[in-house]
Amino acid sequence: MSTILVTGGAGYIGSHMCVELLQAGHEVVVLDNLSNSSARSLEAVERITQRSLHFHEVDVRDTDALRKIFATYELESVLHFAGLKAVGESVSEPASYYDNNVVGSLRLVEAMMEAGVHNLVFSSSATVYGMPEEMPITESFQTGPINPYGQTKLHVEQMLTDIAGSNPDWRISLLRYFNPVGAHASGEIGENPNGIPNNLVPFISQVAVGRRPHLNVFSDDYPTPDGTGIRDYIHVVDLVRGHMKALEFLRRNPGIHVHNLGTGRGYSVLEMIRAFEAASGRQVEYRVVERRPGDAAVSYADPAKAERELGWKAEFGIERMCEDVWRWQSHYPNGFDAADSP
Ligand code: NAD
Ligand code: UFG
Repeated sequence: MSTILVTGGAGYIGSHMCVELLQAGHEVVVLDNLSNSSARSLEAVERITQRSLHFHEVDVRDTDALRKIFATYELESVLHFAGLKAVGESVSEPASYYDNNVVGSLRLVEAMMEAGVHNLVFSSSATVYGMPEEMPITESFQTGPINPYGQTKLHVEQMLTDIAGSNPDWRISLLRYFNPVGAHASGEIGENPNGIPNNLVPFISQVAVGRRPHLNVFSDDYPTPDGTGIRDYIHVVDLVRGHMKALEFLRRNPGIHVHNLGTGRGYSVLEMIRAFEAASGRQVEYRVVERRPGDAAVSYADPAKAERELGWKAEFGIERMCEDVWRWQSHYPNGFDAADSP
């Protein structure tokens, strides 16, 4: 078994990753500055797995702190989740996105080079494709992000491609996620957005639990069967299992590799509302409003390359995604740090 560094491990996807790694018997070191998470997620990870992990409250841009971590542990691989991810905020605060996402990744890679650690999995995003006309999206599609967040992801991909080209020891996996939703089946960890959620499923879930009066559906005049936007929602547990497969793949394949992680199936906003109502037994009030600027009508993956090369395929459907979100949301109606949390 190996020792693995998870940057951003206290966050939504990172905490689910830690569960999977600990359950597979790995030692886990988490680095997170808690700018968008709570250390309570890591306590929950330890409860779920009945194992302990090593947590360092550290910023990924802090070279000295990184050096200490690489000197303390014999790290085999790094899973790099730390970064900022809100598209709208990236438009109003681009410098902060370049700093956390691009500079942060550079500092991490420098520390890895210094320590002689060359296995890295990077959380990229389908947002690097911009607004493709054709579906499904394959990895060979042209990239062309339409917002600063997407630009930072593409810059990091390009930087890592150059770095992999400079030394044959590197083994790097770029994973382009579609729309991660869902939660661990225990209901102990899940997505815990600060403030008003930007994303559909956390918003629906907060309406269902009574925290918000209604959902705004961003238009029903798209050229789709019911007029609402279509996305490829992927269960977070399927997503992190894709990372386990990517780690195995890197053991056999040096160099840099890119894979889409999606289900290959799209669902509309109205289909997601209905699935959530069925899973929760609650009604989800909604109003149809204007389109949100920058939204594509339809986006879904062609996941064939991940299936062929990684031997990975998403298993869970939207019913299970909604059931698991609801279990988490009913358990922690106001998030980990709220007064009413268990
Ligand atoms: P998240 O915000 O829940 O997790 C990110 C974690 O990184 C947080 O715990 C945050 O505190 C930490 N962090 C941020 N900046 C840091 C810094 N400078 N130093 C140390 N820690 C820092 O988000 P998530 O949904 O779990 O996303 C994880 C990764 O996946 C991100 O890189 C994100 O861009 C990427 N991604 C997410 C989605 C999605 O829809 N959730 C889609 C595609 C890609
Ligand atoms: N939507 C609503 N109301 C809401 C929120 C969303 O109707 O309150 C709709 C959107 O218009 C879209 C769908 O629900 O049709 C999904 O929207 P999300 O915001 O959940 O997801 P996006 O596909 O817009 O964005 C996600 C990530 C981004 C990433 C992008 C592309 O949040 O970080 O996928 O990978 F850039």
